[in-house]
Order: sequence, then structure tokens, then C-alpha cells
Amino acid sequence: MIHPAELIQRKRDGEELAAEELSELVLGYVAGDVPDYQMAAFLMAVYFRGLSPAETFALNEAMIRSGETVDLGSAIGRKVVDKHSTGGVGDKTTLAVGPIVAACGVPFGKMSGRGLGHTGGTLDKLESIPGIRIELGLDEFLAQVRDVGIAIIGQTADLVPADKLLYGLRDVTATVDNVSLIASSIMSKKIAGGADAIVLDVKVGDGAFMKTREDARALAEAMLELGRRAGREVVCVLTDMDQPLGSAVGNALEVREAVDTLRGEGPPDFTELVLASCTHLLALSDLGLEEHAARERAEQAVADGSAVATYRRWIAAQGGDPDEAVLPTAPVTRQVVVEREGFVHAIGAVEVGLAALHLGAGRRTKEDSIDHAVGVRCLAKRGDRVVTGQAVAEIHARDEEAAERAAADVLAAYTFAEQPPPERSIVLETIS
Ligand code: URA
Repeated sequence: MIHPAELIQRKRDGEELAAEELSELVLGYVAGDVPDYQMAAFLMAVYFRGLSPAETFALNEAMIRSGETVDLGSAIGRKVVDKHSTGGVGDKTTLAVGPIVAACGVPFGKMSGRGLGHTGGTLDKLESIPGIRIELGLDEFLAQVRDVGIAIIGQTADLVPADKLLYGLRDVTATVDNVSLIASSIMSKKIAGGADAIVLDVKVGDGAFMKTREDARALAEAMLELGRRAGREVVCVLTDMDQPLGSAVGNALEVREAVDTLRGEGPPDFTELVLASCTHLLALSDLGLEEHAARERAEQAVADGSAVATYRRWIAAQGGDPDEAVLPTAPVTRQVVVEREGFVHAIGAVEVGLAALHLGAGRRTKEDSIDHAVGVRCLAKRGDRVVTGQAVAEIHARDEEAAERAAADVLAAYTFAEQPPPERSIVLETIS
């Protein structure tokens, strides 16, 4: 029998814990035998002292063992690919990547999460679509991946229950942004969810948990190692989160932008990230494509309309109405106008994310409900030239007062300069 207080003390003092000790602690927590206050203290000790690779692996294993696991590949009879993002502002990548990959003939079955704080979650975005069901049973989920080629659902309660509990606790105890804790949170879900090959989008910058390339690299390496030990193929892309991704931040606005992108009419940075992610997923799949051919195949699915057709079939299969006209719209729209000339030097991703959150697009607490119609569209992005009187952003709000406040917040998120900043690609680095 472990004594949690002793483990907390030893971790606090920088000792390495044994795999069995970590396992008992995590499983004891899930069983309700270890209280929140001791787990919170343990997480804070981990936050300051870190976990060794062996400890991170033991934590990951214990988290996987806390619930059921799925063998997607055997159930579908094909190699199944999956993607995950560490979380960003305006990150609707899954909504565009899934239909493209499925249109190329690769099964895409994904369990997604909700947003908290200034980052949005795929499930919340999907729920702006009238009628959509995101809580399919496992059998229904598998049947849809087999028949339609794509299903995206909420993570079932039985899959890594330890993460649900730990993530909730981390979120309210300032212990989210630790490499070992993020790596095991993400990889336990991916491994238990059963994908054979995984593309991980590690966000770097102001709007991400990892603020520097070095930290993002460390997270990528930790996740690669956990994937390797579990026999999964993993590719990590480090991507820019120093400004919101694409234009739209807010649920229905992001769904519209994802559909535009499936039609080949998306913003350049978001389109590039989507195509880069699809390229890796298709290259990892059982189609046996080289990267160059994989990229061409993804571009072809957009150009020939099969990506958007797959989107429509997928949404309809989950009970949703794929018609964009039925997506909710906000009653008030307000332009954010600049009173100067110059180039957009930076757009604070957190500030824009928080402006959308205050409009009602996100949750401040787990119990909050979401207003799917509201949000922000960043019309001018980093490097764009602007002139006096130009609208750099657009606010979609429930009322005039909320619109006014958001407009001021979004304008404050923009900085301008006489010269354009150096160009930066959305994909900063690929590690595999
Ligand atoms: N996303 C996750 O799933 N877990 C984390 O800890 C951070 C981001």
C-alpha cells in the first residue's frame, strides 16, 4: 500500500518514483481512494520537479490501464490513422482534415475533446451544427467509420477516465503546462483509442501551452517516445500559434471556415496546415503513398469536390444538417477598424481567444453553456498591409454592448509596424 503523502514528499524533494508507486497513486485516485487535495499537491510537485522518461512512461501506462482500450485497426480491418492538437485559438483543423483523409480512402475515426480556457474544442465546434450527435456508442462509431469512412465523437467515459479527472484537476490548479503531464494526457488517449499511426500538432507560441520551440520540441520528443514504446507510428509537427489560426475564432464561424477550406477557399495559413497534416496522415496510412503523392492526393480531394461531399455525408450520418445556411448566426456584427497605415506586426492569440470567450464562444467553468453563433473573424493577419479606415477584424456578438467590448479587446490584440515582420511558415518543424 502506498502512502500518498510520502510520495508527494519524495517527488517534492526531487526523487524518482517507482512505476508501481505511480500506478497505485493514479489508480487509487480514479477509485476515489486518493483525495483531490493530495493529487493536486502531487501534480504541483511534478510541475516543479518534472518526471523522468521512466516515470512519464509509468504514468502513461497507469492512465491507459484506468479504463478500457479499443483496437480500432482490428475492428475496422484497416490501418487507422488519427491526429491530435495540443490546443490553440481558431484550431478547427480536425473538421477539415477528417473529410479530406476519408475522401482519399483512409478511415478516420476520432474521439475529440472540448475546449477550456482560451482554446476551443472540436466537439463544441461540431455542436454548432443543428441535429449533430457526438455521443455514439462504440459499435455505432465503428460501423460509421466502416460505412462512411469517418466518425468524430466525444471520448467515451470509459476511455482513460484518469485523464478526465486529472485534466479537470490540472485545469484548476495551474498544473496544465508541464511536458510530462501533457504528453501522458494526450498519448494515453491516443493509445487507448487504438489508432495505429498518429500525427501530433504541437502548437508553439503565445496562444499555446508551449511558449518556446525548445519546450515544444521537448513535448514532441516525450510523445514520440511514448508512441514508440506502445508500438505506434508518430509524426509531430510544430506549428505557429503566435496568432490565431486562419480567420475564424468561435464555433459556427469555424465550421464555416472549415467547409470553405474543404472547397479550396480557406485562409492560406489554415489551408497549409490542413494539407500538411493530411499529407502526413496519408503517408502513414496503408495506401503506401510517398509524401509528394500524398500531398497531391489531398489537394485533388479538395479540387474535385470529394472532400466537401465527404463532409456532407459524415455530418448527415451523425444526424446533423450539413447545409451551411442552418448554422447559427449572431444578431450583431461589428467591424474593427484601424485608424492608421502600416503592416500587421502581431495578433495576440490569447487576447483574441479571450475576446471570443467573453462573447460566449467558450466556457469559463465546465458548467458554462456555449453560444455557438458568436466569435471573431481576423480579416487581416500578420504581414498584411492595412490602411486607415480598414476593417482588420469582425465581431459576431449577441448584443451591442458585448460587440463593443470585444471590438476594443480585439483591436488591442493587434500591433502594427511600418515594415512587415519576417515571413514565417505555419509549419515550423517536423519531428518523427
Ligand atoms: N491536450 C490534452 O489532451 N491534454 C493536455 O494535457 C493538454 C492538451
